[in-house]
Amino acid sequence: MSLKVKNICCIGAGYVGGPTMAVIAKHCPKIQINVVDLNSERIKKWNDKNLENLPVFEPGLDEIIKKCRGLNLHFSTDIKKHIESADLIFISVNTPTKKTGVGAGFASDLKWIEKSAREISKYASGNTIIVEKSTLPVKTASTIKEIVYSSNNSSHNKNFHILSNPEFLAEGTAINDLENPDRVLIGGENKNAIEALSNIYLNWIKEEKILTTNIWSSELSKLIANAFLAQRISSINSVSAICESTGADIKEVSMAIGYDKRIGRDFLDAGPGFGGSCFKKDILNLIYISKHYGLDEVANYWQQVLTMNNWQTRRISRIIIEKLFGTIADKKIVVLGFSFKANTNDTRESPAINICQELLIEGGNLFIYDPKVDPLQIDIELRESMQGNNEYHINEGSWNFTNDIYEALTNADAVIILTEWQEFKNLNWLKISQIMRRPAWIFDTRYLLNPKDINSIDINYWRIGYGNTNLDHN
Ligand code: UDX
Ligand code: ADP
Repeated sequence: MSLKVKNICCIGAGYVGGPTMAVIAKHCPKIQINVVDLNSERIKKWNDKNLENLPVFEPGLDEIIKKCRGLNLHFSTDIKKHIESADLIFISVNTPTKKTGVGAGFASDLKWIEKSAREISKYASGNTIIVEKSTLPVKTASTIKEIVYSSNNSSHNKNFHILSNPEFLAEGTAINDLENPDRVLIGGENKNAIEALSNIYLNWIKEEKILTTNIWSSELSKLIANAFLAQRISSINSVSAICESTGADIKEVSMAIGYDKRIGRDFLDAGPGFGGSCFKKDILNLIYISKHYGLDEVANYWQQVLTMNNWQTRRISRIIIEKLFGTIADKKIVVLGFSFKANTNDTRESPAINICQELLIEGGNLFIYDPKVDPLQIDIELRESMQGNNEYHINEGSWNFTNDIYEALTNADAVIILTEWQEFKNLNWLKISQIMRRPAWIFDTRYLLNPKDINSIDINYWRIGYGNTNLDHN
């Protein structure tokens, strides 16, 4: 029996659920889409008339929201009502790493998934397709299935089809990634359910890009895709340290190796370490699964990707402190960028958190600027990171937010570029060199600035992955 989807409910109005449903709404005007969330503040922001206040910043998202909101795209806290009327439900809730209990520090916390599954079991009217969108540990579909069919509620008359359809969008380019994905992956058993979900994507994506697999392959592929990407960043970051020691230039090395088709050019930018909600969590998950199956060597292998990432972040704060004569107590340091990458307001696992934390422990006075991150969010991240730190009271620095980069830089000792926001490239670096206190430093952890622009200016300049190219140097 073919299944026709007229009404979609998405549980979770976050960085994945919001943009994904917006793009589906844009391409499927005949389908009604309700995005629901427990967090009423978040829903209020999604419904805000002023599109500047949307809870997620993504280039191009506001235009789609403007076009579809109120027509076939709705944001609501009425979870019961919208689960009841849905033919298809996306589960797009958060699955962070467990903080306590069995698997703490490695396994994903599935309590939000479980809660969603219980709500679906209770309220869905039957013959409902359930789609896992969140990144999940392999075999989560079994858990969902067990819960939705559990007999202590009235679900025994209901019929559910569970599919895995992981989201591969990257923040900052989410709309483009959703509009033009490399592939759409659908894992599942029931052909009709797979066809129903495929039909939604076929409204704007070519058939050959829609891949179907069994459900476990689909769940695992998402973890592995992220693990491979993260591994690539740790690899290039490890090379950045070699470049600094040997006199090579990471930009040139990345370019030279990227020309090899087998290696490819993407994801070869050295930086302060990867952040974001997925990479660390997914690798921890992979380590957990590997250990569970007795594959200790596999677990150790992936652990190394995380070890390198932590090392890279710490290495940068150490370099900054060392270059500033080993002490930054009471020095004025301007931090440019706090989000984990450019074009997003997301700060989850941002390397900026640990770098700022280390500078604060050393007593630095930080002035932080980010074009899109809410200062309240920066405050929450820094407070959380400092709370767990016993050294905090030994040498307490301070942090402030600034909207005026030039004012903040007046008499500053150092400026650190932590996120690759393009606007930092266009600052007047000559003027900056003149208003800072001497000897002044630029630390470019993203290799964002054009060295030609800076080399002619009288300022100390450190950039990631760049060593002394003098042939006499040894
Ligand atoms: C990632 C995956 O790319 C995406 O497919 C998945 O759905 C979710 O996780 P995201 O975390 O949003 O997406 O961003 P991504 O572009 O992958 O960047 C992750 C981190 O790696 C960022 O901190 C970024 O700055 C860093 N990075 C990325 C580098 O340091 N160098 C690079 O060359 C690329
Ligand atoms: P992601 O990056 O995966 O989208 P987010 O944390 O941005 O993660 O979004 C997940 C959203 O899911 C949050 O807004 C959270 O409030 C919501 N959520 C979690 N559990 C439930 C639930 N049982 N019902 C409705 N919404 C939920």
